Amino acid sequence: METANNHLLLKALKGEETNRVPVWMMRQAGRYLPEYIKIREKYGFFERCQTPELAAEITIQPVDIIGVDAAILFSDILVVPQAMGLEVQLIESKGPYLPNPIRIEKDFNRIYIPNVHEKLSYVTAAIKLIKNNLNNRVPLIGFAGAPWTLLCYMVQGSGSKTFDTAKAFCYQQPELAHRLLQMITDTTIEYLTAQIEAGADTVQLFDSWGGLLSKADFEIYSLRYISQIVEKIKDKAPTIIFAKGAWHSLQEMSKTGAAGLGIDWCITPEKAREFAGTNICLQGNFDPAKLLAPIPIIERETKAMLRSFGKKNYIANLGHGILPNVSVDHAKAFVNTIKEFDFKNY
Ligand code: CP3
Repeated sequence: METANNHLLLKALKGEETNRVPVWMMRQAGRYLPEYIKIREKYGFFERCQTPELAAEITIQPVDIIGVDAAILFSDILVVPQAMGLEVQLIESKGPYLPNPIRIEKDFNRIYIPNVHEKLSYVTAAIKLIKNNLNNRVPLIGFAGAPWTLLCYMVQGSGSKTFDTAKAFCYQQPELAHRLLQMITDTTIEYLTAQIEAGADTVQLFDSWGGLLSKADFEIYSLRYISQIVEKIKDKAPTIIFAKGAWHSLQEMSKTGAAGLGIDWCITPEKAREFAGTNICLQGNFDPAKLLAPIPIIERETKAMLRSFGKKNYIANLGHGILPNVSVDHAKAFVNTIKEFDFKNY
């Protein structure tokens, strides 16, 4: 039974027919799982990322506990700025904090394009261990932050609703912004290549803050760099672009060579399909907060989502990361509804 499910996600990304829709959840390895909280009590965040045995255990937890069709590497998008020479802290209940952000030309003296095989060797070690422990049960998704989203943190120095300091940096010092974006892009190409060589079956680029830009600025500050990455990676492994809020550019993203596009809940599946065209796999788009609704509502709304997307060229997922206050039962209800859904007799 399990082996038949092995490659559902990879099949969907290739555009092949599947006997059912594959499902995983963004941020599925995380704080809504009591088993994760237990590990979290003993080790710091980056300690968990940097210890392959811990990263492997956390990565596999949702596969065992929830029954998702793919594992996603436990790590963070901010390990890349860290490897480039910036200090990154994760402050409990506040989120990321970078005490010395990039704001002026002189700040570039502190950052560099790292040798990812040295600086991020703990990631490739974790991937090898995960692949070994997964024993081909489900595929492993590698990932990186998209250059624009990483610039947001590297310049702003913390999370933000508007990332206004990061945007001001782009609009006041565009040459520096492009220099930084190119450094991140070059690092990310090497990093994702290393992840794939270590065993990642597919990779996702998270552009969580893509939606903060106008369509024109998204093209300039984000899509250009995403395109470079996809161009270099696409023949090594299928690539998924998730640019939250950037629905206006789905058509352009569909032309990059990506195998899949993640979409959030603010666009209907029908519109997303219209913009992205029929040939690409779509992934999404359940409102993560709706997992807080009573289970019968979750089941009803999940079925509605499945009917709207249809069975082909589709990976079921949330429209953004799972929230920490979602109970395991509710996450399971979402996943089981997808696994049990019969497209012929709904
Ligand atoms: O998907 C997975 O389960 C794999 C692991 C993963 C983490 N972060 C673990 C994590 C992934 C894919 C990420 C990506 C990530 N990290 C993004 C892009 C996706 C998104 O949600 O938009 C972003 C913007 C970050 C940066 C980041 N890391 C923030 C803003 C925070 C704090 C707030 C939050 O969402 O938790 C983190 C910390 C973080 N990364 C945690 C986890 C499990 C929580 C910290 C903890 O448990 O102590």
